[in-house]
Amino acid sequence: MIEAKSLTRRYGPLLAVDKISFAVEPGTVLGFLGPNGAGKSTTMKMLTGFLAPTEGTAVIHGHDIRTDSLAARRKMGYLPEGAPLYGELSVERFLKFVAEARGFRGADVSQRVNAAVDRLSLAEVMGQTIETLSKGFKRRVGLAQAILHDPPVLVLDEPTDGLDPNQKHEVRRLIRDMASDKIIVISTHILEEVDALCTRAMIIARGRLLADDTPAGLLARSRYHNAVTLTLDDLETAASRLGALVESREVEIRRGKLTVFPSSQGNLFEAVTRTIQEEGWQVDQLQLEAGRLDEVFRTVTDTAEAA
Ligand SMILES: Nc1ncnc2c1ncn2[C@@H]1O[C@H](COP(=O)(O)OP(=O)(O)OP(=O)(O)O)[C@@H](O)[C@H]1O
Ligand SMILES: [Mg+2]
Repeated sequence: MIEAKSLTRRYGPLLAVDKISFAVEPGTVLGFLGPNGAGKSTTMKMLTGFLAPTEGTAVIHGHDIRTDSLAARRKMGYLPEGAPLYGELSVERFLKFVAEARGFRGADVSQRVNAAVDRLSLAEVMGQTIETLSKGFKRRVGLAQAILHDPPVLVLDEPTDGLDPNQKHEVRRLIRDMASDKIIVISTHILEEVDALCTRAMIIARGRLLADDTPAGLLARSRYHNAVTLTLDDLETAASRLGALVESREVEIRRGKLTVFPSSQGNLFEAVTRTIQEEGWQVDQLQLEAGRLDEVFRTVTDTAEAA
């Protein structure tokens, strides 16, 4: 288990992280969401022992990062933001160096390096120096060093940033494959990634933890949760007809689509499909909405802005 206890970080007068507390169990992929400058990377640096908290601490599988940093760090793999260090080393030299620093010796070194190289498809760039790699390959080298020792806790700061669509897909699959018995903490600006990958999501803004929920729980906060969106020719007629249903609270026409919002009565989706049949409308698209994460994100972080 990992536990953040009132983690706080000041940079001079700036309060970058403000008393963030949470506990995470194995089997969790926890996503940090938040605007630029929210404090996500700073929180990750403190969790992994790379930055001392101003106040508070974190405990990683029983090891306090302030008093027992080495043991805590052994349990973790960390992908920092930005490019990896040691740019003048070849990928192979760098990964072997990391394996040795992690305590592997002899045949174990190559075995560990090869396994990570396979998982991140790095074979073709093994001899190349890191500084000459493209952005996406640098990111993949960073991921390879993080997973090399198969740690129970992974902290990955924007793991898919800069990757092409195929590699994004591969890295998400890698994270999902590893997730069952580990704790994986990621940060991301890709909201679909939260739904696709995370079992739990935290929205952070201005250093404060504003929401801590499952992706489904976040979606349920959306005004679009259980709304019905459809496209058809005569939007205005459909809007007034559907707006009069007792199952509907409100209608909205935006960008050529009609959205009907549920009242607290009955089943809106059934009522809408019944009405479509009764009226004989030609409907191109009909969708029951789970909710819109971008809208929840905006609402939660705007409220923080106003506070
Ligand atoms: N070394 C530093 N010195 C001074 N201020 C810093 C330092 N590092 C970060 N900050 C500030 O702390 C705040 C939080 O930064 P942080 O990098 O944690 O944000 P973030 O949520 O990771 O943002 P992004 O989404 O852009 O990566 C920002 O205002 C940032 O400018
Ligand atoms: Mg960051």
